[in-house]
Amino acid sequence: MNLIVHENYDEMSVAAAERIASIIQERPTATILPATGSTPMTAYADLSRMSDAGLLDASQVRVFQLDEYLGLAETDFRSLFAWTLRSLVAPLGIPRDRVRNLPGQASDPDAACRDYDAAIEAAGGIDLAILGLGPNGHLGFNEPPSNLDAPSRVVELTPESITSNGPYWGGTDRVPPQALTAGMSVIRDARAVLLLVSGEHKRSILERTIRGEVTPDCPSTWLQRHPNVTVFADRAAAGYLPSDN
Ligand code: F6R
Repeated sequence: MNLIVHENYDEMSVAAAERIASIIQERPTATILPATGSTPMTAYADLSRMSDAGLLDASQVRVFQLDEYLGLAETDFRSLFAWTLRSLVAPLGIPRDRVRNLPGQASDPDAACRDYDAAIEAAGGIDLAILGLGPNGHLGFNEPPSNLDAPSRVVELTPESITSNGPYWGGTDRVPPQALTAGMSVIRDARAVLLLVSGEHKRSILERTIRGEVTPDCPSTWLQRHPNVTVFADRAAAGYLPSDN
């Protein structure tokens, strides 16, 4: 794992946007697996500015949705699909038919997850996973415990994730208890992973991710086994961890 520490969130976001843009410029048909959540939002806004300025053409990029709450329609404003569309897909001008969702309202969610994994394979795999870090080490909604070979699937959210997502829902009692997630196996097989981490509240889980024992009980520690992971963190999250650049 390569840890790059930036002084603050805005600098980290600019650097992340530049890294994502350079991957897309090198491979205009890149397949990406982008997180929602608060951490990558400024990077996405920076990418959108590059696109508006004509510095980035993302129109051929392919997107696989990282995770979704079970039971939510993709048109629901609170769905992670809708969030992905409005924060990244629409601002970058990526055609809707190049976006593969994880259908929260599938009549058979298990079969839908199998189809999703097959679609990723048919697309030739993921070039770049853009991930945030859950307070319990979840990646996407791969909640602890998650094995490295876990396929895309339906998961029960842990109390910790329900608490951390409560503010988006106006209270923890409103957060859907289950979700669909791209599996750890999808992240494992991604050709590159960019993990974005910001804020003092992520300091201990970031240290555990990088230095802790590799265990299903903290899914982000599996990233230690991945050959191409770059962590972009701000100083508040990195604490005294040394930057590799
Ligand atoms: C969101 C997702 C989650 C978040 C993580 C961090 O699509 O997959 O794993 O990336 O919970 O969330 P924030 O960035 O809000 O701290």
